[in-house]
Amino acid sequence: MAQYDVVIIGGGPGGYNAGIRAAQLGLKAAVVENRGTLGGTCLNVGCMPSKALLHASELYEAANKDFATLGIEVTPKLNLVQMMAQKAESVTALTKGIEFLFKKNKIDWIKGKGRIAGAGKVEVTAEDGSVTTLETANIVIATGSEPAPLPGVTVDQVRIVDSTGALSLPEVPKSLIVIGAGIIGLELGSVWRRLGSEVTVVEFLDRITPGMDTETAKTFQRSLTKQGIKFKLGSKVTAAKTTKSGVDLTVEPVAGGEAETLSADYVLLAIGRRPYTEGLGLESVGIVPDKRGFLPTENFRTSAPGVWAIGDAILGPMLAHKAEEDAVACIEAIAGRHSHVDYNLVPSVVYTAPEVAWVGQTEEQLKAAGIAYKAGKFPFTANSRAKINHETDGYVKVLADAKTDEILGVHMVGPQAGEMIGEYCVAMAFRAASEDIARVCHPHPTRSEAGRQAAMGVEGWTMQS
Ligand code: FAD
Ligand code: NAI
Repeated sequence: MAQYDVVIIGGGPGGYNAGIRAAQLGLKAAVVENRGTLGGTCLNVGCMPSKALLHASELYEAANKDFATLGIEVTPKLNLVQMMAQKAESVTALTKGIEFLFKKNKIDWIKGKGRIAGAGKVEVTAEDGSVTTLETANIVIATGSEPAPLPGVTVDQVRIVDSTGALSLPEVPKSLIVIGAGIIGLELGSVWRRLGSEVTVVEFLDRITPGMDTETAKTFQRSLTKQGIKFKLGSKVTAAKTTKSGVDLTVEPVAGGEAETLSADYVLLAIGRRPYTEGLGLESVGIVPDKRGFLPTENFRTSAPGVWAIGDAILGPMLAHKAEEDAVACIEAIAGRHSHVDYNLVPSVVYTAPEVAWVGQTEEQLKAAGIAYKAGKFPFTANSRAKINHETDGYVKVLADAKTDEILGVHMVGPQAGEMIGEYCVAMAFRAASEDIARVCHPHPTRSEAGRQAAMGVEGWTMQS
């Protein structure tokens, strides 16, 4: 008999949720994690520390710029050491929380680097070099992802940093160049701009945030530009040279033309992430990653019997809540239950100010698929709560099937959009029509009324604008 029903390699949102669900279903589970703490990228160097800095820096900026309008006169002084300390404290509380859940659910945390050593075997090398072999009926790979590198730009975590370095800069840079106008670049670029940096974002494409509805991305970019972030689109960085006081970057137009040199105190490289499977022993069970490093799976099963994979290591959005969905569905499949994840209903949120949130299809995707749709749109300038709060940037846009009225996509820009999108995730999971939302009473005065008014707009009966 194997020692475990399931051994999970990686203790991030994929791995720790898999461990918990396995224990709930009566499976004997172990999670192998070599970081000193549980929680993976998300809790340690991703979602949580970035949100801690976004929250603190947003309040700092509000105190600097918005409080006076409300009749509150203050002169805020930045204490970066304390801002970083409260971030670290929150992160520790969260990672300890996962440790507590492991104890409560009787999940073994095996500390060390896991390597698959043939069918049903995981070898764990501890920090002191000792090796333990775990025997298990099932192996779940939940090893996550790492920042993608860019030839010519070497991350030293001093002047040229990736997201991990950008979460812990020792000072507010006078100037910061962000390579990549994706979610990391814009969230962390926003943090440092609010704290006083001049931020320039260099992006390869001629738009920001690929994957986001194009109209929404343009509205979002306008808002960030108004806040002082500069964009250099259609540009590629070909070299980086670190000097005593900063970095010189060689930047060329993608369409061809003269290269120029941009200089800054610090550079953040954020051009995407790639699956992390280094030293995992995939060859011992014959698993071959695809060209981009993702592990091919079908309903979380890899090509090797008894070996499963979830989260950032497999295809799909690289998001913590997607990893969590994968985890639950994968473990339920292992336990012999029916399991399914609807990736169309995985929402995305950019936690800037304003926030951007969406779920389902973009206008471009619907057009490409030849699906006839109607759009209802409602601006926050016409929402009473937004007006009262002096936060009128953005809108809600609802896209519904022209024939059936089923909601196919929802796109929002505005404060708290990340909280508001949940209503539409539920509605779409129940295959609601836009009229279903339009006819549901929403509390007044709230920003959620803008979501309802946008739904009313699909059939042309928006009442407040
Ligand atoms: P991970 O969280 O990467 O966990 C994998 C774990 O496996 C790691 O702890 C690693 O140490 C461990 N590991 C790897 N190989 C081995 C091995 N051989 N043996 C033992 N352990 C191993 N997502 C959101 O949804 N919302 C956000 O706001 C958000 N913000 C982010 C901000 C930043 C700056 C970054 C970088 C990411 C952010 N993400 C966010 C993405 C999110 O962090 C990931 O999608 C999520 O962590 C993926 O979970 P995972 O379990 O697949 O992998
Ligand atoms: P990303 O994929 O979101 O964006 C990368 C950007 O870099 C793209 O706009 C791309 O066109 C650009 N790019 C690629 N190569 C380039 C080059 N050579 N020069 C200039 N630009 C280039 O990746 P990012 O921002 O690194 O984030 C990785 C992932 O982490 C996200 O896709 C997301 O899944 C996750 N994440 C999620 C967050 C959230 O949910 N709020 C927050 C932060 C990260």
